[in-house]
Amino acid sequence: MIKEITAQELNPELFIQDKINEIKSIVGDGIAINALSGGVDSSTVTMLGHRALGKHLRTIFVENGVMREGEADQVAGFFEKLGVTVKVVDARKDFFNALKGITDPEEKREAITQTFYKNVFGRIVRESGAKYLLQGTILTDVDETVAGIKRQHNVFEQLGIDPQAAFGYKIIEPLIQLRKDGVRKVGRALGLPALFFDRIPFPGPALSARVIGEVTPERIETVRKATKIVEHILKDTQAFQYLAILHEDRVTGMRDGKREFGQQIEIRCWDSTDARKATPTHLPFDTLEQLAREIVNNVPGIVSVTYNIASKPPSTIEAV
Ligand code: XMP
Repeated sequence: MIKEITAQELNPELFIQDKINEIKSIVGDGIAINALSGGVDSSTVTMLGHRALGKHLRTIFVENGVMREGEADQVAGFFEKLGVTVKVVDARKDFFNALKGITDPEEKREAITQTFYKNVFGRIVRESGAKYLLQGTILTDVDETVAGIKRQHNVFEQLGIDPQAAFGYKIIEPLIQLRKDGVRKVGRALGLPALFFDRIPFPGPALSARVIGEVTPERIETVRKATKIVEHILKDTQAFQYLAILHEDRVTGMRDGKREFGQQIEIRCWDSTDARKATPTHLPFDTLEQLAREIVNNVPGIVSVTYNIASKPPSTIEAV
């Protein structure tokens, strides 16, 4: 049983000192490695690890092919400025090969998990000689995985999986007692720019959690373009999270006087504090129309745009 630390009772400075000591004592003179995706959790854990281990921490950005536009360069560039060296590893082929032909949501998550931890990370860890993987699992990830709602890509021990036996390295999870609001407080106290601790959450399986049906490079490109538009238009809403989802069903549309059997994008925009419950943001209708216009005009193949109006539960924030 993991003891929760709520954002209210959290003292970020004490927490940070505690975790730095803990990470140092576990890793000692060894080497730890961590994967930075640029999300709130992995950015916070990277800074925590950097403060604890300095050069003994190797930070990797895995280019899995399913990230947002320009994300690898942006994230690596920002962290370089904060003094953290980030190595970008191109693993696009590994991920698309593993995702080929898979439509079931849990199989998709499992394919990403296995590719990431076994193939790609296994290879990186073996080459680096690291014995520890530092990662930003939070309590909500564990809760939802154990409850069987979603297999979060980063949860093992609570499911009875021993990472040492399965992958050959130990996992250190300094944020596991926190939820998203607590992680943000820690990120801010670690000196991360608002851009990082205040970012909207982004899931580990990245855009593949937002493609219903098979994940292919083409379908990812479609949802990537729609994501860029949604994030740009909704950036000042103060909403907890906003995203675009590519549906599998096609619908009849028309373009330039011709029938087009096109694809559909669903937009979701959530109000929430900790992602356990969420309600759709009351966006002005003008904003919704602007979203639809920009998407059908700029994302090839899209003829229909919808806005989700169901709450979590029974909905979830992501679609896969
Ligand atoms: P759901 O879709 O379960 O999402 O309502 C709850 C929150 O978690 C994020 N999410 C993930 N984060 N690994 C992560 O690190 C994952 O596999 C994952 N799946 C969902 C989601 O974006 C939302 O903020």
